[in-house]
Amino acid sequence: MTHFLDIATTEPADLRGILDKALAMKRARAGRSKGAPDDDRPLDGRMVALIFEKPSTRTRISFDVGVRQMGGETMVLSGKDMQLGHGETIADTARVLSRYVDLIMIRTFEEATLQEMADYASVPVINGLTNRTHPCQIMADLLTFEEHRGPIAGRKVVWSGDGNNVCASFIQAAGQLGFDLTFTGPATLDPEAVFVEAARAKGATVTIERDPLKAVEGADLVVTDTWVSMHDPQSARERRHNQLRPYQVNERLMEAAKPDALFMHCLPAHRNEEATNAVMDGPHSVIFDEAENRLHAQKAVMRYCLGV
Ligand code: CP
Ligand code: NVA
Repeated sequence: MTHFLDIATTEPADLRGILDKALAMKRARAGRSKGAPDDDRPLDGRMVALIFEKPSTRTRISFDVGVRQMGGETMVLSGKDMQLGHGETIADTARVLSRYVDLIMIRTFEEATLQEMADYASVPVINGLTNRTHPCQIMADLLTFEEHRGPIAGRKVVWSGDGNNVCASFIQAAGQLGFDLTFTGPATLDPEAVFVEAARAKGATVTIERDPLKAVEGADLVVTDTWVSMHDPQSARERRHNQLRPYQVNERLMEAAKPDALFMHCLPAHRNEEATNAVMDGPHSVIFDEAENRLHAQKAVMRYCLGV
């Protein structure tokens, strides 16, 4: 069974294969309308369940469109409308769904939920975001970087802000694909040490630098994300804003990176908070290519999981 649960447990050669396939598939569709199927329709006759226990725009729509382009069908399900949200176990849900569908994508809270789904499902399971990781996002980000700038290996990525779930998957990718990652943010919002240590153990240079201007020196890519994630309590909002304000990505910060540095944000953004509009809409920004690439990257992830 080939699940896609996180970047660290997917072999580097498989990550590379997914990225190459995604780029080839994207190029093969160039100029075609969004609803037109791919030539080979590899998901013909397949049913995919997309389960959301949290809100989503990009993940929901890009998976749905991606499955249809590949000739398959989808069921988009809200966790709270399923018995899952009313006490049925994850294990039973996984076993039942496996009798109906060929692939499960789930966005949920705890990693344990995702893991239990994968343990009990007899079809592949894809992580569509948990409180701790967001691997599909990072596949799209890597695809976007490589489309614009070539191989990510040996490059310098700087994460400015909250050491959250998206940051964690980026750190895992540094370990798997051999690029440098510098985190800059307040010590209270550092990424979990276990992610940093695991990437270092795989040979990646992962640096923690409190001074954002120093951090971005030599950066090929600057990335940020919301200061308050979906799983963070709203009561923490003001404290987080106060701590994270020095790490806002603004023009001054981008000017301290390499002249051709890219800027990414997984979206949704709180404009003029974690990044200014001047950066979001400025010459370094590739945020909408990044959003589009969710579609192409995830199509390749699904093909990898299904072996088609
Ligand atoms: N970046 C991302 O996962 O967006 P959604 O929450 O809209 O799916
Ligand atoms: N860190 C954000 C990402 C949203 C796509 C969250 O978890 O809410």
